[in-house]
Amino acid sequence: MRAMALTLLLTACATTPVDSEFVVQDGDFAGLETWQHWQIDATAPGSFHTTGPRIVYLNRKPPAGATAFPVGTILVKTLLNGSGDTFAMVKRGGSYNADWAIGWEWMEITNKTGAWQIVWRGNTPPDGAGYSEDGVSCNLCHSMARSNDYVQSAALKLPIP
Ligand code: HEC
Repeated sequence: MRAMALTLLLTACATTPVDSEFVVQDGDFAGLETWQHWQIDATAPGSFHTTGPRIVYLNRKPPAGATAFPVGTILVKTLLNGSGDTFAMVKRGGSYNADWAIGWEWMEITNKTGAWQIVWRGNTPPDGAGYSEDGVSCNLCHSMARSNDYVQSAALKLPIP
C-alpha cells in the first residue's frame, strides 16, 4: 500500500508541469515601435525616468478582465529627451525576482546599432549601470504599484478593458 502511494506521488510529481519562464531575447524587441503605445508628458519630479516626454510600449494586452500581466508581457519605456535611454520590464514568471516585483525582469535596451539589444538585465540594475544610486530602484519605485502587478502607467491600470 505504502509503495503504491509512493508510486502515485512520484508519478504526480513527474507530470506536474513546472511553471515555465519566459526568457526574453534581443529579437523579441524587434518592431516594438509598431506595438500599442502611449506618450506621457506629465513630469513626476525626482527622477529622469519620469521627466520629459516619454513613450511606453506594450507587446500585447492582457486578456480582458485579467488582474495580472501574463508571462511573456514586454513593457518598454523610451525617453524622448534625445538620450535614447530605453528601459524594459518583462514578465518572466516563475519565482523570478520573488522578493520584489514578483516575476518581473528589469533591463535596459538600445537600438544604437540599428537593432534592439539588451544592455543589461536582471532583478535589479548592475552596479555601475549609471542609473540607480541604491541598486534596487526599479524594484522600489515599481513596488508602489504592487496592486497593479508593479506596472505604473495610468493607461495600464488592470483590468484593461
Ligand atoms: C522614480 C521612480 C521610478 C524608478 C526608479 C523606476 N521607475 Fe519605471 N516607471 C516609473 C513610473 C512612475 C512609470 C509610469 C510611466 C511614467 O510616468 O513615465 C514607470 C514606467 C516604467 C515602464 C513602463 C511600464 C509601467 O510600469 O508603466 C518601464 C518598462 C519601466 N518603468 C522600467 C523601469 C526600469 C527598468 C527601472 C530601473 C532601471 C525603473 N523603471 C525605475 C517610476 C520609476
